[in-house]
Amino acid sequence: MASTWVQSPRFAVAAPAKRGDNTLMAAPIVHAGLEVLYTRDQIARRVAEMGEEISRDFAGQKVVLVGVLKGATIFLADLARCISLDATFDFLSTSSYGKGHQQSGEVKLLKDVDHSVEGQNIILVEDILDTGLTLTYLRRVLSAHQPKSLKIAALLDKPARRIQKIEGDYIGFTIPNKFVVGYGLDYAERYRNLPDICVIPPSALGDE
Ligand code: IMP
Ligand code: MG
Repeated sequence: MASTWVQSPRFAVAAPAKRGDNTLMAAPIVHAGLEVLYTRDQIARRVAEMGEEISRDFAGQKVVLVGVLKGATIFLADLARCISLDATFDFLSTSSYGKGHQQSGEVKLLKDVDHSVEGQNIILVEDILDTGLTLTYLRRVLSAHQPKSLKIAALLDKPARRIQKIEGDYIGFTIPNKFVVGYGLDYAERYRNLPDICVIPPSALGDE
């Protein structure tokens, strides 16, 4: 569906087109022929289930959603709106794979949380649990802040690639050993804005 452009005094914004079910949908984005692994509707349904589960588990309590920049931002934004609890946000950042899909194996903290998480219920929100190096490291960093509880919510889990023995508490989808992009996940910083989760074929993965 075509979107209309609305002029505001300082910038032009694309007004999202409306879908039949009355939910807002962004203007269509070119997927460049990538195979879709999970559609936006499948993701939305699963994220809603995850939010309900978290809301049940922490009924009557407050939670702090700690997102791992940048991949978890879209997942966190959607998950947060499916959680019916008193919730606040914070963000962490680690050194990443580099520009492409290669991994150095070393994780460094680039940005710590802004607020003390001592005595709080922390839900560490990550896009994907792959080798497990990042979340093992971040779990240690956050545990040092002595939270009341610490859980991991990851949209995707790729257990075939695990190096560190770690499991998520809330997992959206368990996927095969494929490199995926979209819904926040990138390849060399691209594709984060794809609404669906898509697969990058191995032949297209360079050595960046
Ligand atoms: P780890 O290997 O579990 O430490 O994963 C760390 C990070 O690697 C994730 O937060 C993602 O940013 C990135 N990553 C791992 N697998 C993929 C993938 O299939 N697509 C995009 N990013 C990935
Ligand atoms: Mg990430």
